[in-house]
Amino acid sequence: MATWSAPGKVFLFGEHAVVYGKPGVAMAIRPRVAVTVRRVKNPAPVRSPYIDECFRSTGVQGSVYIRSQLPSSSGLGSSAAVTTATLAAISDEFGLGFTKDEIAERAFAIEKKVQNGRASPTDTYVTTFGGIVLITKGSKRRLPPQSLHLVIGNTLVPHSTAKMVEHVAQMHQKHPAIVNPIMDSIGAVTTQAIKCMNKPQQLGHCMDVNNALLEALGVGHPALSKLVLTARAAGAFGAKVTGAGGGGCMVALCPKHAKNWVAGAMDATGAKSIITTIDTTGIRKEKDG
Ligand code: PMV
Repeated sequence: MATWSAPGKVFLFGEHAVVYGKPGVAMAIRPRVAVTVRRVKNPAPVRSPYIDECFRSTGVQGSVYIRSQLPSSSGLGSSAAVTTATLAAISDEFGLGFTKDEIAERAFAIEKKVQNGRASPTDTYVTTFGGIVLITKGSKRRLPPQSLHLVIGNTLVPHSTAKMVEHVAQMHQKHPAIVNPIMDSIGAVTTQAIKCMNKPQQLGHCMDVNNALLEALGVGHPALSKLVLTARAAGAFGAKVTGAGGGGCMVALCPKHAKNWVAGAMDATGAKSIITTIDTTGIRKEKDG
């Protein structure tokens, strides 16, 4: 038996624009998913296509037990976390000796397959290595870790990443003269944000600008806007949609002393808040049981 866990993630800057070759910044966050893999001859069928694919691609058989602190399908990277933790546990249990790089690559291939080709390596890379990651055209680089105090607001409004990516693609096709400059601006905000990662006030302002640009792309939602405004009014440095939008989650950057207040204000609107900060570990082995 082997148990491994992996963290969730938030997109701090650049979602959607990253699909158009602009830089993006994502950060691993504290809530984790833990997966126990046990060698068994005739395992019960699993319900997750991600886990199915982990076993199929490694050619081994086993049972899995998952414990998750991450809400699924909310843009917090739970499928990537489940996939990397499962691969790490399989590698450990069956002595396959996968490196972190191999786990990140294999997990990306699995996400891509399960999601019909629509996946960026962001989630699988961030959850494997932890920390803050800058994604640029074809490359991924870890940025120096920062202890950012974040409050995530889950609207509990279901959303589909594939649909939102498709929506932006259609808008891009119809109105390239409008959408291209928005993508350029998001890229510029991300580049600016990288220079002020340790200046929370400036960083918060960058988040606000990024949010306005995401709304201009049509990936906002009234429930997200409400939470973004609530967080700012309660004292956040800045707040924005995180991930694909159209529902799902937003993220607020807060002064340390204000995070409980911001979370409370968000919960009072009917959302589900998560107070969190950076995870710098990525996948890790856990005690079994
Ligand atoms: O909703 P999430 O966290 O899976 O983020 C999607 C981010 C996009 O930029 C919209 C797509 C991608 O694969 O990068």
